[in-house]
Amino acid sequence: MDETLPAVFRLIGNTPLLPLAFPDYGVTIYAKAEFSNPSGSIKDRLAAYLILDARRRGLLHRDSVIVECTSGNTGIALAMVGGSLGYRVRVLMTDTASVERRFLLEHFGAEVVLFNAGRGYRTGLEMAEQMAADDDRVFLPRQFENPLNARDHQEHTAREILQQLPGPIAAVVSGYGTGGTLNGVGSGLRAVHPGLRVVAMEPAEAAMLQGEAPCCHAIEGVAGGYLPPLLDGVAIDEAVKVSSADALAMTQRLAREFGLLVGVSAGANVVAAVETARKLPGHGRVVTFLCDRAERYYSTRLFHHRDKQGGPAGALAPAEGQSMFDTEAARGAGVNSKEDSDDISLGVDDVGCGCHGGWDHGGLPRGSRR
Ligand SMILES: Cc1ncc(COP(=O)(O)O)c(C=O)c1O
Repeated sequence: MDETLPAVFRLIGNTPLLPLAFPDYGVTIYAKAEFSNPSGSIKDRLAAYLILDARRRGLLHRDSVIVECTSGNTGIALAMVGGSLGYRVRVLMTDTASVERRFLLEHFGAEVVLFNAGRGYRTGLEMAEQMAADDDRVFLPRQFENPLNARDHQEHTAREILQQLPGPIAAVVSGYGTGGTLNGVGSGLRAVHPGLRVVAMEPAEAAMLQGEAPCCHAIEGVAGGYLPPLLDGVAIDEAVKVSSADALAMTQRLAREFGLLVGVSAGANVVAAVETARKLPGHGRVVTFLCDRAERYYSTRLFHHRDKQGGPAGALAPAEGQSMFDTEAARGAGVNSKEDSDDISLGVDDVGCGCHGGWDHGGLPRGSRR
């Protein structure tokens, strides 16, 4: 650790690996508590790694402006890291990202530019390139294509897991935004455990790895309507679909039964990890990630459904004897229904599929193959 860096750098990484027991499914999975990073997400690692690398290579100057297109978490992490080092940070974010993200960015002193979510991240990525072309003070970390993103996870996140979980590891399960986690942790763990299965979690509504057209979903931070280049060349053994309803239900269960205040993708990752562990012969050990904090989702369905269902014990808890993974049950409880159309993260518009006019369906109905 470089003693000259701002103190906040000491809080980044080295997150605990939590054993989570699910007696109802007969498995225990291991979840990396990435929400305990200082800005609240796994992206603090990436921000510190990319910015320190750029400084070392002389790519950042006093008047530099760090510009990144992000689902929010990377922007918040860059705002924290960049701000603490004295750089301006500008974040390009879809207009569907939760409002908490915007507030946090502004709190860290970053500039926020919202763009229409219709074409997924592609719009923001093009805007960032244009800003760099127009202004030579702009520095683009390019999280979606920068190989350092995966290398950081290989050098640090995977190494931490190997130290925390000595002995065999059967599988790693993660959603993908940039693909950096799956790529880096997958290759880092596989180097030591060659038989390790790399499992991608995908929203059931946007299962692009399975050839389906992306649609809106409630698992913020992953599957942004775009297959990231960092996933190219990653030997993914399996892609597991998790519905938004199941992800929300598990996120609530993680809070109530485990005391873990985590975001929706953490619930989705845990659903996929439990499914993976159940299928493995001998229930081998499965690692996954709790990527960010619940507080980032106050304005979204994760909390909002309470108002409609009459209290915290309502909507998303499975009925007695009913599977947590029973999507229909959760749907019956109001998830992704028309009545929820005022929800900011998932609603129903004239596309009729839950989009807020957000996604570019490319003329294809939801669920069809590209
Ligand atoms: C909120 C959130 N951020 C980031 C990630 C990982 O993203 P990336 O593929 O960019 O490493 C995930 C993965 O589940 C996530 O849920």
